[in-house]
Amino acid sequence: MIAFSSKSKKNQEASIILLTSSQSDKRLKRELEKGEIFPLLEGKSLVLFVGLGKSEKLTLTDLRIQVRRVFLSSFLKKVKDIELIPHTKDDAAIKAIIEGALIGPYVWDKYKSKDKDSHVVKDKNIIVLVDTKKEYEQTAAICEGVKLTRDLVNDNADFITSEYLEKTVKDLIKGHKEISVEILNKKELKAKGLGLHLAVNQASNKEPKLIIVSYQGGKKDEAYTAIVGKGLTFDTGGLNLKPSNHIETMKIDMSGAAAVCGILKNVLKLGIKKNLLFVLGIAENSIGSAAYKPGDVIVGYAGKSVEIGNTDAEGRLVLADAFSYVVKNYKPAKMIDMATLTGACVMALGFDYSGLFANNDELAKDLLASAEETDDRAWRLPIYAEIKEYIKSPIADLKNTSSIRGGGASTAAEFLHQFVGDTTWAHLDIAGTAFCEGQGRFYYGHGATGAGVRLLTNYLLK
Ligand code: BES
Ligand code: MN
Ligand code: ZN
Repeated sequence: MIAFSSKSKKNQEASIILLTSSQSDKRLKRELEKGEIFPLLEGKSLVLFVGLGKSEKLTLTDLRIQVRRVFLSSFLKKVKDIELIPHTKDDAAIKAIIEGALIGPYVWDKYKSKDKDSHVVKDKNIIVLVDTKKEYEQTAAICEGVKLTRDLVNDNADFITSEYLEKTVKDLIKGHKEISVEILNKKELKAKGLGLHLAVNQASNKEPKLIIVSYQGGKKDEAYTAIVGKGLTFDTGGLNLKPSNHIETMKIDMSGAAAVCGILKNVLKLGIKKNLLFVLGIAENSIGSAAYKPGDVIVGYAGKSVEIGNTDAEGRLVLADAFSYVVKNYKPAKMIDMATLTGACVMALGFDYSGLFANNDELAKDLLASAEETDDRAWRLPIYAEIKEYIKSPIADLKNTSSIRGGGASTAAEFLHQFVGDTTWAHLDIAGTAFCEGQGRFYYGHGATGAGVRLLTNYLLK
């Protein structure tokens, strides 16, 4: 729990005092080095001074990293009540500190045996000493959405099934009158002709699902903005089976859909005054005799036929049907999707920037501004008129793989582009950013990051 107060409560179990090198405290006899955590006992309460270094050199990312380090330090393991003293009036810095405290210490340890004698306090009461502002409450609320997304991504693929995601969405919207939901299961997907989505799920023993939540937070006649997520609960690659070192993390292939859940949670909590669609295209790309096959030609909801060049390029198939269905039946003015779509995007941008694609410069600009503001980073990559040549097929309207070797993130984005019609659209390829292998990066530890949640929630708040 986090709360904000302009007055110190005194006698907290612990206080954290953040100091740049130009700030001093009379209890300290010397300047702290950057990253130094200096503990002091005052009666029964623990005071932790944290050195931030020169303020000119301190980035907001740095600040989040330092706050995370304090919260993960052994000093605070058994402490429940903490006062956090930022010593700044800068809004951006205070928000970064809140995120450092709420996003930073997240650890996925559901399946780790707990040491019963250690009494580690996981849920802390944090009071941040600042002038209370609605914006700070918002920042804290958004971190809850990030947490939900991370929990969904980190858990086992056979636990976070399409059924589980449906239940998650239904639990979130329970009791909200401004909301309705449409769910297409295998039967409805068949009846309506979402052949691409069905093909991807064909070898799975789980139900494919297209979930569409309509949220009426805005004016009655205002057109929708659709937020769409790729929800591959596991991506084996299909008959073009992924090799070792590539298949192990593929439970994360529903990170787009998980981010949609996180954003939905935030939108409800913040009561955002817009009309929104939350769309989850859910399937499992499995192998077996029922699996769809390389060389197949499959017709989707838009009536376009697609030659399957590779069964591992499945995300674009599920999204193509989701886009066509939503565009035709809900006519959104804008559509933004998040998808762990291509390894090529990871090759191009690495793990710190999501790939952004758009058919509209204004939308791209707004999203890049939000990415910058939230530190949920994105970098624009191109799609252009001529690129559609590379996804042509001699035997179908389109092919799900490219005829050229490079630029795989762009050709995948162009495939999606073919299904948006006239809708203003942007696509975030979060293949690199959704998950940290190994030790983690920045203020994220190992596991899911919640990429896209802060970026899009902040965008919707504007
Ligand atoms: N889910 C993967 C993309 C991915 C790769 C996500 C690494 C996260 C980390 C996607 O379905 C995929 O397999 N894409 C293929 C496309 C190719 C066959 C055209 C890829 O990127 O290799
Ligand atoms: Mn794949
Ligand atoms: Zn995939």
